[in-house]
Amino acid sequence: MTVVDDIRARLDIVDVVSGYVALQKAGRSFKAPCPFHTERTPSFIVNPERQSWHCFGACSTGGDAFSFVMRQQNIEFSEALRILAQKAGVELTQAGKQDSDRRDKLHRINGYAATWYQERLKSPEGKVALDYLKERGVSPEMIDAFQLGYSPDNWEGLKTYLAQVGAPEAVAVEAGLIYRRDEDGRTWDFFRDRLMFPIHDRQGKVIGFGGRQLTEPPADAPGYNPKYINTSATPIFDKRSSLYGIHRAHSAIRESNTGIIVEGYMDVIAAHEHGYTNVVASMGTALTENQVSQLKSLATNFVLALDPDTAGQEATLRSLEASWKVIGIQSASRGRSQGVLYQRDPITLSIAALPDGKDPDDLIRHDPAEWERLTNDALPLMSYLIPAITSRFDVKTPHGVSQAIDAISPLIFATRDYSEQQRYLQDLADALGIRLEVLTKALRPSYRYSRPRFSSSRDVGSTSDTRSQITPSALNSNREFIRENYMLSLLLNRPALQGSLDDFSPHYFRNTANREVFARWMTCSGVDELEASLDEPLREHLHTLLTDSSPEMDSIESERALKECKQLIAKQYLKEVREARLDTTDAATPPPRSLVEEITSLDEGIRATEVR
Ligand code: UTP
Ligand code: MN
Repeated sequence: MTVVDDIRARLDIVDVVSGYVALQKAGRSFKAPCPFHTERTPSFIVNPERQSWHCFGACSTGGDAFSFVMRQQNIEFSEALRILAQKAGVELTQAGKQDSDRRDKLHRINGYAATWYQERLKSPEGKVALDYLKERGVSPEMIDAFQLGYSPDNWEGLKTYLAQVGAPEAVAVEAGLIYRRDEDGRTWDFFRDRLMFPIHDRQGKVIGFGGRQLTEPPADAPGYNPKYINTSATPIFDKRSSLYGIHRAHSAIRESNTGIIVEGYMDVIAAHEHGYTNVVASMGTALTENQVSQLKSLATNFVLALDPDTAGQEATLRSLEASWKVIGIQSASRGRSQGVLYQRDPITLSIAALPDGKDPDDLIRHDPAEWERLTNDALPLMSYLIPAITSRFDVKTPHGVSQAIDAISPLIFATRDYSEQQRYLQDLADALGIRLEVLTKALRPSYRYSRPRFSSSRDVGSTSDTRSQITPSALNSNREFIRENYMLSLLLNRPALQGSLDDFSPHYFRNTANREVFARWMTCSGVDELEASLDEPLREHLHTLLTDSSPEMDSIESERALKECKQLIAKQYLKEVREARLDTTDAATPPPRSLVEEITSLDEGIRATEVR
């Protein structure tokens, strides 16, 4: 038994949830107002038989004890595991413990460093930095709120301090605070004479730093001295998967269902200072897939505030294309085939292009009304991209037209929603000055008939006629999760199947460990990469999945087995949702119309899994 299974077996979800929420008995289940959003009528249900929870309100999601704690505490799987292991009295395996001890140590030493930098800022040697902040209009409240600091102009200031408090130098080196030269092992402070911006995770732990230079070096100065330097990648920090300000922004993002993404540290601070607390920064890089996936767990509307000078840049356009693909695909996978649970609005990403020479920091400080107008009136990404990309080509020539079509059509088809596709195609035709029919003919053959997959009726084989001998006991067994595990081991052993999962949501897996492995696997190119990206407890889980004996199958058989798994798991999921939904209502009073509609739509979803 893996640690994850062991912990699961020892815990009762009612007990876990009761630690955070006052539950009321309702039939076989328990209900409460949802802890994740404000509501008057309880739409949060815990089912002890299935050890699952669901919220039918704004969250429209559910899962097991692990996913509950992850959401409740805003934490990653590995930390939820740690909390629940303790509650269950399960010792994490040595490797797992080492992993989390190591992370703890890194968080702790970053905390020491942040405090020390903060103190330096307020000491005489920090005067230049403090004056600089004042001059830029940063208030003392914001300096404290964001724990701004100063790293002195000294090669061994932090190093000496950390030695005094007994923090091991090796940990400081691993945290990127102290630099160690390979040749001779000499060590010194990594950040010197810089304004320090600690970077926090969602819970407010310091995971890394950005340091801004205070004086422009003379143009002919030797060496490279960038305006900002950041902690290099460490086990707890990767700039590309961090969002500056997320610890102070996440609840505002959730409450307003809108997140605003800017480029820089100072932009975030100005925004928060002026009460726009749903603002985070991507720290200069293009939005990454990882950043998007963190954000989309908080809200469905996002606005990207782009400096005008970056807006036209090739690199920015390319990165927007990439973000769009991630978002397009993800919003499609919350699509209609999943019925009520995925009724949440699709994700929208809009672009606020700021006026010349103004970054959000300037604009918010000097003209907050204009900032509000620009962010409220932001253009949906595709409406922004179509003209922006079109203008890169000479669309007066047929060659230019076909180049523009080739550049934009993959983005249009990344949206799996058929009516949206049609709308964008029309926009593109308009931008190119051609008729829609002409455009459609010019599309690459693979896009021409790209009706969304779930409405296709090509495979009519029902579950009963498939060769059930190739999907042995696993598929028919009632034992919890066996089917989930079977499906995953099937996938892991046959990477070619990765392409047939567009219509399958990770949320269909009730076991959070399976969700995690599945979601990661979808972004990895192979099992090795997947394995490297997992923490110890999940790696152990992966190993059991990989050693689960799956029978020899050819590719047709395995596709069939996968299809059957997908159908059965989706169906099971929808049935559970249906049942839980009924539990939210009081049997004595007739159900409201909206509920009847929801149930009908769930029934349709269940039937759809049968005929797919
Ligand atoms: P900007 O240069 O626009 O930063 O870069 P800013 O915050 O507006 O800087 P100042 O202080 O007002 O001049 C945007 C973001 O890109 C990252 C930083 O996160 C910065 O906040 N960046 C920029 C770097 O990481 N390194 C650099 O050399 C420059
Ligand atoms: Mn700036």
